[in-house]
Amino acid sequence: MLKKTMLAFFCVATLQLTAQHTDTEKMRRFVNGLMQRMTTEEKIGQLNLLIPGGAAVTGSVVSTDVETKIKNGNVGGLFGIIGAERIRRAQEIAVSQSRLKIPMIFGMDVIHGHKTTFPIPLGLSCSWDTALIERTAQIAAREATADGINWAFSPMVDIARDPRWGRIAEGSGEDAFLGSQVAKAMVRGYQGRSNDLKDISRLMACVKHFALYGAAEGGRDYNTADMSRVRMYNEYLPPYKAAVEAGVGSVMSSFNVIDGIPATGNQWLLTDLLRKQWGFGGFVVSDYTSLNEMIPHGMGDLQTVSALALKAGLDMDMVGEGMLTTLKKSLQEGKVTQKQIDDACRRILEAKYKLGLFDDPYRGISASRASEILTPANRAAAREAAARSFVLLKNDGQLLPLKKSGRIAVIGPLADSRRNMLGTWSVSGDWQQSVTVIEGIRNAVGSGATVSYAKGANIADDPFFVRRSNMLGMEIDTTEKRTPADMLKEAVDMAKESDVVIAVVGEAADMSGESSSRASIDIPESQRNLLQALARTGKKIVLVLFNGRPLTLNWENQHLPAILDVWFGGTEAGNAIADVVFGDHNPSGKLTASFPYSVGQVPVYYNHLNTGRPFAPGDWSKFKSDYLDIPNEPLYPFGYGLSYTTFAYSAITGNKTGISGNGKLELTVRVTNNGNYDGEETVQLYTRQMEGSIARPVKELKAFRKIFLKKGESRDVVFSLSANDLKFYNKDLAWVFEPGKYKAFIGTSSAQTAEFDFNAGK
Ligand code: BGC
Repeated sequence: MLKKTMLAFFCVATLQLTAQHTDTEKMRRFVNGLMQRMTTEEKIGQLNLLIPGGAAVTGSVVSTDVETKIKNGNVGGLFGIIGAERIRRAQEIAVSQSRLKIPMIFGMDVIHGHKTTFPIPLGLSCSWDTALIERTAQIAAREATADGINWAFSPMVDIARDPRWGRIAEGSGEDAFLGSQVAKAMVRGYQGRSNDLKDISRLMACVKHFALYGAAEGGRDYNTADMSRVRMYNEYLPPYKAAVEAGVGSVMSSFNVIDGIPATGNQWLLTDLLRKQWGFGGFVVSDYTSLNEMIPHGMGDLQTVSALALKAGLDMDMVGEGMLTTLKKSLQEGKVTQKQIDDACRRILEAKYKLGLFDDPYRGISASRASEILTPANRAAAREAAARSFVLLKNDGQLLPLKKSGRIAVIGPLADSRRNMLGTWSVSGDWQQSVTVIEGIRNAVGSGATVSYAKGANIADDPFFVRRSNMLGMEIDTTEKRTPADMLKEAVDMAKESDVVIAVVGEAADMSGESSSRASIDIPESQRNLLQALARTGKKIVLVLFNGRPLTLNWENQHLPAILDVWFGGTEAGNAIADVVFGDHNPSGKLTASFPYSVGQVPVYYNHLNTGRPFAPGDWSKFKSDYLDIPNEPLYPFGYGLSYTTFAYSAITGNKTGISGNGKLELTVRVTNNGNYDGEETVQLYTRQMEGSIARPVKELKAFRKIFLKKGESRDVVFSLSANDLKFYNKDLAWVFEPGKYKAFIGTSSAQTAEFDFNAGK
């Protein structure tokens, strides 16, 4: 029987492989045939990606004469066009007026949803729910393809350990293991589990920004990244690799240098590592003018850097037209080869083939698909995703959840700010469709409670800061006529008349995101003043915090009883916030980036190396690795987040004392919901290699499980560890397992775990 099943399995697997092989062969024949008819200029044209304007423009250059260039076969793709009809018209020019009628590919920054906007990726990662994350990408793909788009510039998987860097908002935080799980989930969501891009509700994904972009020195965007290969391989590269293994169709190179060479022209990165070591078979696109930016990086003039990029393995040039305008000359001068141009062109054409663009250049765009956008079901998914992204940072005296009764004062500049609900990089999202906090609260309480609202303060008062933060629109309202003192007085008077205050404060949407680095990561002073004045009323205060990055919250942590981090929750943010505040949804989010105690600690992350002079908390002495003025630990660590209920963990039991050979060690903890609500808990498993050939982190996440326990319920959670799970890149960058002493940690956060010592042998 078993034999028969195995035989059937092998037959199906062989058939699938044969079918794949024939498909690939067909594609090769088609693309070769087409390329035989193409001139060198037309081939170079395929490498050119333009933005006709109208959407987010993140550099100084905007494309001109786009229509003529399309007709001349000088454009391989366009991005940033909003609306299916506009895309259809642009495609029509390519497929009816250019000589070879090659369709264009249409890209877009679909980052956390399309029209239905989900929480910012940092928030979404705090759900630790990869099925949910996959579903959000799937919905985004459906909506974006209905809008004519076929290529998403996502997932962004840059590991980030510096909250000063605004783009920490766009990724999954500080951990490579979690980041890899999220990367895979997003690729699956966009491209489908079988990676069948002919399915017109799927998008080709583009993993970015390859590589190390999140390690910008000083947290300043576009800045230098520099690190050892050991760190790179173990801590920064895994999520990109995971996306490649999940079959991502394209990769975007980053702005920064790696070992002194800009990523966009870095042959080691784009060819040796990506293609040769990892076996990536898709195409590589530059970031916005990152090819041209190699000039100020000091790599030569436009012709030189364009040739460098092509030779390094870059296939498509975003916006800067360096390839378009110089590669022919470089070919004539022998600085690049015809093969290099052909290889790049072939990869772009293959991507178009995989997307089915040669069969239907419009990929089924039709007016009827408009009904797939912003549907009630999609909005419901956004509401759920938002509630699951929130992290309860503090809840003294079980202040939350609130009752839907009494007098509730909702105070703060983000309580009634539709403009700020979606967060950074919501290019296609329409903020006018979003639900504000005050609306969400009013929807939830109905006539049960008296809800009053006061703005209390501006998001920020410093005109210099406000001007810079408002570059993408008036997120910090500058039309306010009242003085800060007047607003504050109104708020304090209102608080005094209330039973409880919900203070809705934090960052405006584009205070994080691209080119939004901050040296101070406090809540802006105007709002800190408001919080202090509210605290002086002696009323109970719930802080609902909007932020695109970890903030320094010492004062808030010391003086306010409840803090709920809601990031930027997207279209349904207001309703989701009300769901959590009033207990219709019990929060279960856990941080994926540590919240520093002080910005002076940055970078602070849980999986650091030990030093030779480690510091033991509570045991300060001279000549240890510590600070005179602050603790070593972050205020809120990686993996931390509360629930309305509480969970008790048993000690860890193992089915053996260690791992030998191919064996597995099963580690069990009993988790009990011993609080007053049903709730979800993310049980986290970490390990530490106690001795090795190189210094190893004090903890590394290896697995996690999200479980739901009814009030009073207990469950055994079993993790199984093998030698494979303990592998890492050694000093020679070999992926190895080293026998020896290990510790396992299981718990509710990276800082609160039970321990288990074990040996792993050959
Ligand atoms: C960003 C990318 C983005 C691109 C296109 C760049 O400035 O770094 O993340 O995909 O613009 O909008």
